[in-house]
Amino acid sequence: MNQTRRKRRPDPSLSRLDSLSPEMLFPAKSPALTSSRIRNIFLLLVFCFIIYIIFSYGTFRREKISSIARSLTVFSTRRRHLLFSIAASHDSWLRRSSYVRLWYTPESTRAVVFLDRGGFESDLTLPPVVVSKDVSRFPYNFPGGLRSAIRVARVVKETVDQGDKDVRWFVFGDDDTVFFVDNLVTVLSKYDHRKWYYVGSNSEFYDQNVRYSFDMAFGGGGFAISVSLAKVLAKVLDSCLMRYSHMYGSDSRIFSCLAELGVTLTHEPGFHQIDVRGNIFGLLCAHPLSPLVSLHHLDAVDPFFPKMNRTESVARLIGASSLDSGRILQQSVCYDSLNTVTVSVVWGYAIQVYEGNKLLPDLLTLQKTFSTWRRGSGVQSNYMFSTRDYPRDPCGRSLVFFLDSVGSDGSEGTWSNYILHRVGNCHRAEAVKRLERIKVLSHKLDHDTQQMVSPRRQCCDISSPYNKSMVINIRQCMPDELIAMNT
Ligand SMILES: *[C@@H]1O[C@H](CO)[C@@H](O)[C@H](O)[C@H]1NC(C)=O
Ligand SMILES: *[C@@H]1O[C@H](CO)[C@@H](O)[C@H](O)[C@H]1NC(C)=O
Repeated sequence: MNQTRRKRRPDPSLSRLDSLSPEMLFPAKSPALTSSRIRNIFLLLVFCFIIYIIFSYGTFRREKISSIARSLTVFSTRRRHLLFSIAASHDSWLRRSSYVRLWYTPESTRAVVFLDRGGFESDLTLPPVVVSKDVSRFPYNFPGGLRSAIRVARVVKETVDQGDKDVRWFVFGDDDTVFFVDNLVTVLSKYDHRKWYYVGSNSEFYDQNVRYSFDMAFGGGGFAISVSLAKVLAKVLDSCLMRYSHMYGSDSRIFSCLAELGVTLTHEPGFHQIDVRGNIFGLLCAHPLSPLVSLHHLDAVDPFFPKMNRTESVARLIGASSLDSGRILQQSVCYDSLNTVTVSVVWGYAIQVYEGNKLLPDLLTLQKTFSTWRRGSGVQSNYMFSTRDYPRDPCGRSLVFFLDSVGSDGSEGTWSNYILHRVGNCHRAEAVKRLERIKVLSHKLDHDTQQMVSPRRQCCDISSPYNKSMVINIRQCMPDELIAMNT
């Protein structure tokens, strides 16, 4: 009741406002009020003066602040900043598009496929297809080579000329190249796309590098060109294509043109041309301490996993990488000193259990499970890395366990299960002879921080005792921890 009554009462302040004259609002006649007015004007002038000083003095500062802001944004390269161009041909595309489908996601990957001629129905699970422009005016005179090298080299120009917005890196590969996109983003984040960069890797096969160049990015392994460099390269490429008609491949043409621009290759060991044939188990089990970026020549190598075809094998690797992309193929070695057993874990792929004490440097060399890229007598098998022989006798080899399943524990943790691949009827040491499966527990490997700048291998522990199944925990090593058997 009380409140209603009060509400009804007219508000005296409101009614007065209506009738206010200018004199009442600015009653200038009182001497006390005049001096306060002067003070206010003075304060206002001081305030304006300060603002003026800040702005005129701050112009160079503003530039500094915005340059800091720009350099901060450099490090936040995302998937959408990459534009992939895939060089394919009409004859290979139908078959090999199954590889592209494995790493391409329409929602988050930007990609375009270049073909020599069209005729495919559009498929939303694959990148859009473009037919390359005519290149018949360019000369090609490498004996026995393929003219398509010119078309594929020119994919670089045609991609840049598309004028897509917000591209920081142009990435090139073939239709039999599989990219680990998140890892490529991590790797490229190290570099400033506003500067000139040509990032990739050379061949595993020493002789190939002698023939082409140790500083050429082999095209199938994929390479990335920063936007600032790509724009310049696109402008000058045609003139280079006239000059390098004697060269074999598309990658030689790009390499030569970049050399003329004064740019050399930034080597990143995660790109893999895979210039080997057959079983690449040994190669996959000794990956450098750097994120896996690409795998190429998938049709020339055996499926990575037993009882699987190539597409399924790649799908399994990519599936594991979707849970912890930074850790895929990263090798950790742990020791059971009680039973003298050495275990080499290659996360997301395979585990090898050795009877005896194997020293770490020996386990970091590649087991030569593969054969040479070039066939024929007199071909030397010289590689760009140290190798060791892979015993022909299965009983002379380690026990091998291949990835079977992988999952997440909901937070940053993952588990992965590896199943024994049985070969031969071998006599094994008591401690390992019943071993059938291994479970590995790990936390997401963060390549964004320390690991990218100064990588360090991680350590692991074997939960003892084990019999049929073993549990391994991967963790960061202690500051002064050595990866060796405690003896
Ligand atoms: C590989 O296996 C999958 C699943 O069994 C099958 O769909 C696909 O056609 C196979 N690919 C090839 C090339 O044989
Ligand atoms: C290991 O498993 C086998 C077969 O299941 C069993 O006979 C043996 O006693 C077990 N050994 C240990 C040490 O638990």
